[in-house]
Amino acid sequence: MVFSLGRRRKAAAVSTCPYTSASPSDGPGGPSAAPAPRVTDRAEAEDFLRQFHREQPGGDVERRVREALAEIGRTGTYTHTPAELSFGAQIAWRNAARCIGRLYWRSLVVRDLRHVTTADGIAAQCFEHLRLAGNGGRIRPVISVFAPDRPGRPAPRIVNDQLVRYAGHRTSEGRWTGDPRGASSTDRALGLGWKRDEEPFQVLPLMVEERPGARPKWYEVPDGCLLEVPLRHPDHAWFADLGLRWYAVPAISDMTLEIGGVRYPAAPFNGWYMGTEIGARNLADAERYDLLPVVADRLGLDRSSERTLWRDRALVELNVAVLHSFHEAGVTMADHHTESERFLRHIARESSHGRPTPADWSWIVPPVSGSATPVFHRYYDPVDTSLRPAFLARGQ
Ligand code: ARG
Repeated sequence: MVFSLGRRRKAAAVSTCPYTSASPSDGPGGPSAAPAPRVTDRAEAEDFLRQFHREQPGGDVERRVREALAEIGRTGTYTHTPAELSFGAQIAWRNAARCIGRLYWRSLVVRDLRHVTTADGIAAQCFEHLRLAGNGGRIRPVISVFAPDRPGRPAPRIVNDQLVRYAGHRTSEGRWTGDPRGASSTDRALGLGWKRDEEPFQVLPLMVEERPGARPKWYEVPDGCLLEVPLRHPDHAWFADLGLRWYAVPAISDMTLEIGGVRYPAAPFNGWYMGTEIGARNLADAERYDLLPVVADRLGLDRSSERTLWRDRALVELNVAVLHSFHEAGVTMADHHTESERFLRHIARESSHGRPTPADWSWIVPPVSGSATPVFHRYYDPVDTSLRPAFLARGQ
């Protein structure tokens, strides 16, 4: 069964997604905070359109290129067809050198929301994204593409780095509560009038800037759109008492999708989690929830020396708990052995189409038991940062 904290509701239609807006749309700042978008690069546009027609044969490529270049001449940019947008987003995933989960790049569901430009509309659609992607536990990879930047008219932005993330702040005694990774968003939200409780897993509100530099509007994630899994251990009853949990849908919301010279700064996308992201990083890193000493003590491990490998043993049990809990909750999650094997299948399949698979070893190899997975024991095609379409870090 799927657990969702708060009441479980039947999936709400977008229009009834009960988000709360609590701040005025305009404030100090103004569109000056980001450089004004430039005219779309004609060579990038043409390269992309030719790639699209190479990989999806059919249609008159020469005519399409002429049409797009003429539109750039007239307006400074051009409009992707829905098919080009879908293809572009899928290729951006295929090109993501840090992602081990690329075997399923073709299955990415692309939501064409380019007409949505208001903060209210974007928030409502982000929540609908979470609901569709969560899919009652059978996680679907989804991207929601909002309006692109146009010359002289920068597009809206999502402030948060993920659609769902836990707040974190340092208490007056200098200890952390919550997720330190959420600290900057927490500060931002507090500054906008949002209220933090002391809870370690409080979901941050979604913050949307209608124009870069404008005061963001913020919205609580509605219960009905939020899927979370309380963590238990198959052999240790005490584990549940730690009160840990994690959300089901990792949805990156601070990367710009760039396709054929056009930039989509608001284009949140998600896959499903690999267990180690939560069990070996989010809950384990000293700069995150820092739970290894806690788990080791509950396991009765000897922490008097590093030689006892208490950290390693605690890590394994934490990861067992994460995989077990998601499985029991019916929420899609991959283990690092399975995902590694899938990635090698992806490379083989791409190679059979004559395509390289650029990959960043340090991101692909899982953070625990690296050498026990096949992705450890090889090198990869070099990363080419000029490869497009791509997901770009903000400011890149
Ligand atoms: N590592 C990030 C997190 O723990 C999520 C990154 C994307 N992960 C994914 N499985 N698609 O939240």
